[in-house]
Amino acid sequence: MLESCSKLDVMPGVILWPEALACAEQEALVREIFARVEEAPFYRPVMPKSGKPFSVEETNFGPLGWVSDISGYRYDKCHPVTNAAWPPIPDVLLALWSAATGYPAPPECCLVNRYGLGARMGLHQDRDEAELGAPVLSLSLGDDSLFRIGGTTRKGPTQSLKLRSGDLLMFGGPARLAFHGIDRVMAETSSLIPGGGRLNLTLRRVTPSAGNEKTPDQGADRASHAPLRAGTGRG
Ligand code: SIN
Ligand code: FE2
Repeated sequence: MLESCSKLDVMPGVILWPEALACAEQEALVREIFARVEEAPFYRPVMPKSGKPFSVEETNFGPLGWVSDISGYRYDKCHPVTNAAWPPIPDVLLALWSAATGYPAPPECCLVNRYGLGARMGLHQDRDEAELGAPVLSLSLGDDSLFRIGGTTRKGPTQSLKLRSGDLLMFGGPARLAFHGIDRVMAETSSLIPGGGRLNLTLRRVTPSAGNEKTPDQGADRASHAPLRAGTGRG
């Protein structure tokens, strides 16, 4: 997997594999996703404190799901609406994870974001994970989108890139805590997703794997005691 793909260095720690999945593989994955969504339906999370609804809908696959509600961001073993365990992560995503990251254990969370008309994702950091030694791996499906990534502070320069269906993006090492978000989705640029729009699948390791307990100095301490991020604008 990924051997025959081109690989672009976006910035230190950030790698893009354009069209990591071919059309037929994307279609098969979308079928697997929607089969899982039958048992773990999309729901609309709300921001901590304010209760403002996200513009994306979300669900998760894997042993731990990332959830947001009035009380904060956290990982949970159960779907907040059905209270059932999350469905397993599709095999093709596990294969992409081991090919791309080389991390010695599988991801524990696959967050699924569904972007409908006008949905976006404000600049934020992924820092609710105890393990920051593993990168974040993100696959785009469906409509094109404009993704923005910067440094580890909210201010400072950012770089924009267009993410297309099948593109795989990884950020880790010096970019593990980079601010990133989706400025906009270009409607009707793909017909892959039933009902249109864009899906993003974000794979993350949450807990350190045995033998990989060391986390980078950068931000590790902060993350393990991560306070609530008021107004990060994720939603
Ligand atoms: C996220 O950072 O949670 C989503 C990014 C994306 O949709 O590409
Ligand atoms: Fe993120």
